[in-house]
Amino acid sequence: MKNLEFIYKRHSIRKFTEEEVKEEDLKAIMEAAIQAPSGKHRQNWHFVIVKNKEKIEGIAKLIEEKNKKIADKLPDKEWADGFKKFVKYATIFRTAPVLVIVYAGDYIPTGLKEFKAIGASQEEIDALNKANPGLQGVSAAIENLMISAGELGYGTCWMTSPNYAAKEISEYVNFNKEGYYLAALTPLGVPATEGKSPERKPLEEVITVIE
Ligand SMILES: Cc1cc2nc3c(=O)[nH]c(=O)nc-3n(C[C@H](O)[C@H](O)[C@H](O)COP(=O)(O)O)c2cc1C
Repeated sequence: MKNLEFIYKRHSIRKFTEEEVKEEDLKAIMEAAIQAPSGKHRQNWHFVIVKNKEKIEGIAKLIEEKNKKIADKLPDKEWADGFKKFVKYATIFRTAPVLVIVYAGDYIPTGLKEFKAIGASQEEIDALNKANPGLQGVSAAIENLMISAGELGYGTCWMTSPNYAAKEISEYVNFNKEGYYLAALTPLGVPATEGKSPERKPLEEVITVIE
């Protein structure tokens, strides 16, 4: 069997050293990201790469502010406290030298127009949209980015919990491209902690083999 070690080198990393990401490594990682497949070869991704430490901290602060704003409006204290407690998982990128913000562009699933034309049920339309092929291609690019980063000795962490502050983040980095929305973000840097991923469900639980 070929060596698949590169897969096992990727872990979610939530603390980073001060070390910079080498420019040639960043370029190689981003080139690997865009080798991902995408529906109809739309390549409907855009990456905003923040290399400025103060701006990265600024984004973490925005998320904290938005978290507080939401928590203050919640109807009970226990709920609000729980929501506030988890803000740390939305800001774990703050020690990284680089933050990659991933945007996805709108995508019309194959068959959607036809479903509408033939008067398909809302249930069928919703099911088609649910698979979100537009986001699937962008996710493939994110995974390529992370696996390549791991192979080059860098750490990343796929993050969607900051998405409740997507509007504020996009305004802050001044990114506004028609039809594009913030999908996820990831820190990129040299890990300050050893990567250790949680155990996976057993393979038998998640596969069905038909012979
Ligand atoms: C779509 C998605 C969203 C995630 N969002 C966050 C997040 O906001 N904050 C965080 O700390 N980790 C986040 N994670 C990381 C997961 O917690 C992590 O992948 C999982 O626990 C498995 O650990 P591993 O990545 O080390 O294998 C996210 C992962 C994915 C795929």
